[in-house]
Amino acid sequence: MQLLENYALKSFNSFGIAVSAKYYCNISSNEALQEVLAWNKKQHHQILVLGGGSNILFTKNFEGLVLHNTLKGIELVRESEHYYYVRAMAGESWHEFVQYCVKQNYAGVENLILIPGNIGATPMQNIGAYGVEIKDVFYELEAVDIEAQSLVVFKKGDCNFGYRDSIFKQTLKNKFIITSVTYELPKLPKYNTSYGAIEMELEKQGVKELSIAAIAKAVIAIRQRKLPDPQQIGNAGSFFKNPVIPTEKYLQLKKPYPTLPGYADGASTKLPAGWLIEQCGWKGYRKEDAGCYALQALVLVNYGKATGEEIYNLSEKIIQTVQHKFEIVLEREVNIY
Ligand code: EPU
Repeated sequence: MQLLENYALKSFNSFGIAVSAKYYCNISSNEALQEVLAWNKKQHHQILVLGGGSNILFTKNFEGLVLHNTLKGIELVRESEHYYYVRAMAGESWHEFVQYCVKQNYAGVENLILIPGNIGATPMQNIGAYGVEIKDVFYELEAVDIEAQSLVVFKKGDCNFGYRDSIFKQTLKNKFIITSVTYELPKLPKYNTSYGAIEMELEKQGVKELSIAAIAKAVIAIRQRKLPDPQQIGNAGSFFKNPVIPTEKYLQLKKPYPTLPGYADGASTKLPAGWLIEQCGWKGYRKEDAGCYALQALVLVNYGKATGEEIYNLSEKIIQTVQHKFEIVLEREVNIY
């Protein structure tokens, strides 16, 4: 175990915010994890588990212990008649894992290609894009109970998956460290092209026959057009969740705003927060180095030297104006520290 003090986190968060951790420990083995947890039992530092750092906004230095999860390994653990069961360690890059699946022709995750972040965050957040969520392919995960230092297996039913949500963001927040995730990937692909932009993109690319690789390629093209590459412009993807409101309220809002899009699901309707933010005039806004991305208003960006506080203050203003105009309170998707 190597503990580093006052360690710079700028390169470990996709917003590129220049903060430091009081203590930092790279976790590349289960033994290292057990060792640092045992050490911290006496120290009682607040723990922050960092994976890809792509869903976090630091507004100040972190005064506790950062555990940087870099556990590696991908393994086909078994197969049944209809599925491959593939286990990936939490520190693997999600995008590289999807690339591996596409190459092996394992189906089910192709719509989720190019999402930044690591394996460990995928169930935590129930990441999703283009009509697919991780819960659709999730089989089980292993996590270490921070208090008891024991390994616990969580099956799908244990995780309380919701829209960008799981038990690890709710009652079990900061109680477990996810060490591996096993995905159940169908042998026979069920292509999901229902998300409008995918079909258009496939047509544009002249795809005649659907395949896992063709969908992955289309999703990459769509994402690259709309979403900033964190290597070039600091960001954490969607900063807010898309709000879900009663369908009745949605229909009332349609009267003054007839072009308001909505995805109805029975009594509730999900609205694109990007649309609401754009209507409030924020799209393309920039003050110093903090901004609202010009091609997708749901994404807040750091053009270089913005502080976490500046980005946070911008998000506050956005929440206030959206609330004022539409009486809808946006919720942040990104974790704030
Ligand atoms: N829209 C606007 N203006 C904008 C942005 C969006 O009017 O500036 C409207 C358009 O009507 C568009 C609709 O919003 O048709 C939906 O936009 P988009 O397809 O870009 O998706 P989103 O709802 O803004 C969600 C996810 C993304 C995911 C995409 C595609 C959330 C919070 N975000 O965004 O996830 O990639 O769908 O499935 O659910 C992320 O979580 O970090 C993320 C990028």
